[in-house]
Amino acid sequence: METLMDHLPSLQNSESPFVSLYTTIAALLFIFILWKILTRTSGNLPPGPWKLPIIGNLLNVGALPHRTLRDLAKKYGPVMHIKLGEISSVVISSPETAKIVLKTHDMLFAGRPFILAAHIIWYESTDIIYAPYGDYWRRLRKFCITELLGAKRVQSYRQIRADESLNMIKTIAGSVGSSVNLSKIISSFSLNITSRSSLGKIDTKQEAEFMEHIHKFAEELGGFSFSDLFPSIKILGVISGERSRLEKLHRELDTTLENIMGDHEKRKADAADSSQTEAELLLDVLLNLQERGQLDFPITRNNVKAVIMDMFVAGTSTSSAVIEWAMSEMMKNPRILRKAQAEVREVYKGKETIDETNLHMLNYLNLVIKETLRMYPPGAILVPRLAGEKTEIDGYEIPRKSTVLVNAWAINRDPNYWEDAETFYPATRKFGFSNQILSNHSKMVANYIYFATKNYLVAIYKLRIFFTNQSILGGYRWSLKFTIHG
Ligand SMILES: *[C@@H]1O[C@H](CO)[C@@H](O)[C@H](O)[C@H]1NC(C)=O
Ligand SMILES: *[C@@H]1O[C@H](CO)[C@@H](O)[C@H](O)[C@H]1NC(C)=O
Ligand SMILES: *[C@@H]1O[C@H](CO)[C@@H](O)[C@H](O)[C@H]1NC(C)=O
Ligand SMILES: *[C@@H]1O[C@H](CO)[C@@H](O)[C@H](O)[C@H]1NC(C)=O
Repeated sequence: METLMDHLPSLQNSESPFVSLYTTIAALLFIFILWKILTRTSGNLPPGPWKLPIIGNLLNVGALPHRTLRDLAKKYGPVMHIKLGEISSVVISSPETAKIVLKTHDMLFAGRPFILAAHIIWYESTDIIYAPYGDYWRRLRKFCITELLGAKRVQSYRQIRADESLNMIKTIAGSVGSSVNLSKIISSFSLNITSRSSLGKIDTKQEAEFMEHIHKFAEELGGFSFSDLFPSIKILGVISGERSRLEKLHRELDTTLENIMGDHEKRKADAADSSQTEAELLLDVLLNLQERGQLDFPITRNNVKAVIMDMFVAGTSTSSAVIEWAMSEMMKNPRILRKAQAEVREVYKGKETIDETNLHMLNYLNLVIKETLRMYPPGAILVPRLAGEKTEIDGYEIPRKSTVLVNAWAINRDPNYWEDAETFYPATRKFGFSNQILSNHSKMVANYIYFATKNYLVAIYKLRIFFTNQSILGGYRWSLKFTIHG
């Protein structure tokens, strides 16, 4: 009888005694790889670029992820699988697939992945951008949409906007003839409006401090963090110093915000509403909500602070970015600039002050903003979402707990959907489809784009100030002399 054992001695004689060990390992490895391949193909993940061990596709992403991911999607398709560190991610790059995520299965993708920076700084992610999906998020979001950012409330801050517009015009007029840092002026203008309508008149030193913290926070949110990419290595956040850095930033932000709120509450108690000429501040609306418990669920002072921070993170950087891009595109296209200017002068002929009536008549400026939002969507990749369950898109499996990234920037520049996709062309675009999904989405879900489009009229208003005839800027001719970052 021949057994396997009979062959072994000869093998052992001809080679080293370790060979059998090697063959066993090789065989096991082979079986393991085969099993991996089989289970993977049965899972049918979306296609995607080759993944390096451990870091996955981190090197593919680079500094401008919306661009690199768009280029990769050209090769692998509108549903693409990548791995960012340990995080299995699905990148969505077409209007049809975005619609599945943002509309058809909206609730399935309503969760947010855990982001350490948002968790620590945003009071355990109790703001409306990163709050985990659930009752709290749903009710708070509804309250913000209808109460905080509703048309009536936005309307009530018109005096603040008028004052700040005059301030800005004076600032620009002070530098006629020389070059102005438009970026800086527009940011300061947006900040002044957000700040006065949310927190009231605050100490400029406190405001500067607060904004410095907010900028740092926005930076933390914008970059990749190793502890988010490698969640299984819990100690990473500690040894990299990330955790302590974020905690320090949180403490500083909280202290500044508490000081501002404390001063405000003291002033309110002292004045006993006698000097209450300005509209009700967003802070007061939220504090009232906390006191009265109008939402059928209790909100805390920390929740109030988290939402106030939302207003600053979203209200200042995104809205000024939109205005900056619009101005920059118009200066590059004198024809567009002249047309917008002529429209403003026609609609506001003979008006003495900067008022907000007839904004809806500025059709062309409206198109300019729409086109700006198409080409430069604030938050080029939408706030990441989490697949709540295993699901399917276009026949591919989206595993449970995958991070889903919608590349709004890629969708808005896809030549399959837009004529002259890379040209700034303010006109009624033929393929409004993707814009509609994204703006419907923005109505439904609080994210950066939401704030930008919600403040749409405000954006038009801000832009048209630059063309006011009656103002000191009347005869001023804009010329392109500035560099724009981003
Ligand atoms: C914003 O407010 C500050 C402080 O009141 C002021 O110095 C600054 O000029 C304002 N910014 C603009 C653009 O008007
Ligand atoms: C203009 O202001 C922005 C924002 O404050 C700043 O980042 C940028 O460096 C400034 N640009 C120039 C040319 O000074
Ligand atoms: C600007 O305003 C002045 C004074 O009201 C008016 O005479 C002039 O025609 C206006 N210019 C334009 C281009 O509307
Ligand atoms: C967007 O919303 C409008 C009305 O709210 C609806 O008629 C339209 O079908 C929606 N479009 C998409 C693409 O979801």
